[in-house]
Amino acid sequence: MRAAVIGGGRSCEHDVSLASAAGIGAALQVAGHDVVALTIGRDGVWAEAGRPVPLADAVRTLQGCDVVVPALHGPGGEDGTLAALCDLAGVPSVGSGVGAGALAMDKWATKLVAEAVGVATAPGVLLTAATAADHAWTRPVVVKPVAAGSSHGVTLVRRAEQLRPALEAALAVDDRVLVEDLVVGREIDLAVLGRPDGSRVVAPALEIVVDGVFDLATKYDGSAVFRVPAPLAPREVAELERAAVTTYDALGCAGVARVDFFLTEDGPVLNEVNTMPGFTEQSQVPRMFAAAGTSYPDLVDLLVRDAVE
Ligand code: DAL
Ligand code: MG
Repeated sequence: MRAAVIGGGRSCEHDVSLASAAGIGAALQVAGHDVVALTIGRDGVWAEAGRPVPLADAVRTLQGCDVVVPALHGPGGEDGTLAALCDLAGVPSVGSGVGAGALAMDKWATKLVAEAVGVATAPGVLLTAATAADHAWTRPVVVKPVAAGSSHGVTLVRRAEQLRPALEAALAVDDRVLVEDLVVGREIDLAVLGRPDGSRVVAPALEIVVDGVFDLATKYDGSAVFRVPAPLAPREVAELERAAVTTYDALGCAGVARVDFFLTEDGPVLNEVNTMPGFTEQSQVPRMFAAAGTSYPDLVDLLVRDAVE
């Protein structure tokens, strides 16, 4: 197949996306596909093979391909906007559609949907610049922008005096902010793959072992250790898998999504859903599928084939 891989984007996860796109492009070539690499600059300008092109030309290029892999993370890509572009252009794209991308990018909407289907999330409140001013600190919380990724704008607030700067940092990224109770538990990621026949494949769970918090620094400085399969009791695996698939289906995801949990003494607590998770060969999802015997090129090959079915 001729596959267009789009990387970059305007979000603060631009560089992470370029790495995902490069990995996916190389793996697609190993799997025997022709790859057309497109990038979106931080300024929103599209480029083909490094040369800036008008959006209309980029869309024509997409229309000349059999499938599109929108390897963007964060707002302006993972939030359904690229799926919408591909829909309007009439080209199949890998992963979630407009609705699921938008819902999963919105951590508040994700929380409401998850709670409605019985998947636990941390108790939290939604604040804006107007309401944040009156918010008082009473216990350890995590302050995060409603829509962002890779922990940009996220702060762990253990003391009252840390609250104001944390709210300001999150409000600098998004005009809506989520303040959630700090959840104490093991960080466990699940990858759910929806197949065109409606079946769901869940890869072996992955545990993130990190000294401190899995934040922007530890996400990309190589200090976090991934344990896959995560050492878990069969009952824990069953609970996590059920919660992951329930969340995936409630949001209406497609393709592969990474559903991140904290495993607490009371069971799994959903942290967030990534409809276009980090996708280099060393990222969580490819590592989870590798543990199940599916190589990185085989995984991306499966994703593009499923997208065109
Ligand atoms: N948002 C980053 C890329 C991830 O979830 O892997
Ligand atoms: Mg994320």
